[in-house]
Amino acid sequence: MKEKLQKISEEALSSINLSDSLDALNEVRVSVLGKKGALTGILKGMKDVAPEDRPKVGALVNETREKIEEAVNERKSKLESALREEKLRREVIDVTLPAKKIKIGHPHPNTVALEEVERIFIGMGYEVVEGPEVEYDYYNFEALNIPANHPAKDEQDTFYINKDILLRTQTSSVQIHIMEGGKLPVRMIAPGRVFRSDEVDATHSPCFHQIEGLVVDKGITMSDLKGTLEGFAREMFGDDIKTKFRPHHFPFTEPSAEMDVSCFKCGGKGCRFCKGEGWIEILGCGMVHPHVLEMCNIDPEEYTGFAFGVGLERIALLKYEIDDMRLLYENDNRFLEQF
Ligand code: DAH
Repeated sequence: MKEKLQKISEEALSSINLSDSLDALNEVRVSVLGKKGALTGILKGMKDVAPEDRPKVGALVNETREKIEEAVNERKSKLESALREEKLRREVIDVTLPAKKIKIGHPHPNTVALEEVERIFIGMGYEVVEGPEVEYDYYNFEALNIPANHPAKDEQDTFYINKDILLRTQTSSVQIHIMEGGKLPVRMIAPGRVFRSDEVDATHSPCFHQIEGLVVDKGITMSDLKGTLEGFAREMFGDDIKTKFRPHHFPFTEPSAEMDVSCFKCGGKGCRFCKGEGWIEILGCGMVHPHVLEMCNIDPEEYTGFAFGVGLERIALLKYEIDDMRLLYENDNRFLEQF
């Protein structure tokens, strides 16, 4: 029995020292100390040993087991530290390599255009305000001189929440909120999202942005409107730009106009960009209708004002010579990165 144990022990120790991986080492351990291992086999054979010899043999088996376990642990820690060193060698960090460039996004063309518009009007003493996107019919239509059954209501296909509440079709509703606030004089712009039940195409989207403008004070005239909007166009599109006011109709202004700017692509000769016209329409405007002032408790005999509404996408498309509005909403990096 002693020789048998001696043999198991010697063989085990030499296999342990020859193991070159943790897996191989584990296999050796299992083959000797495991449930079906050689040493366990001996313990199972104890019943054949004479009872008086059993304590001695037992002690011998335990001694052998301890020796082997110790050898396994020693080998294990050697293998582990070799692995660790190998890993460290493999993962050297070259601190002289240039760092990876961090890719941060940048403002959307709409945002760039809006910030430019805001900068220009803030420079003229305007305040930037906001109004609700979910709006009462009253603010979106009624108070803007567009009563129920008015044909102008048809032009703006509307998303209704219920009979009285809708998604605003125009930022002009903010004019009413501000005038109702009662603080005069007013000099504000109100940028924001507007909604119309339109099909998506190159120039339409069910959700787009407008920038509303409103000035109310004593002695405001049409020449203030023209001077302001001409100044805005020059700042926005360059000193060479020409402007033109065409009579138009909006229910909440009287008189009303649309402002065109000379095509900056062809300078007015006519091209694909301006559809051969030489001019491009960029906003609607007019003198605030006396009835609108009255509905907001402002005396039209004492105060007058002008208002305007600019399509933000329009400005962005023109400024960056983009010919399809859908590009602004697709979020394709290859497009967005160009601005
Ligand atoms: N709200 C008008 C629209 O969406 C644009 C507009 C025209 C706004 C004239 C104004 C204005 O403030 O005076 O078509």
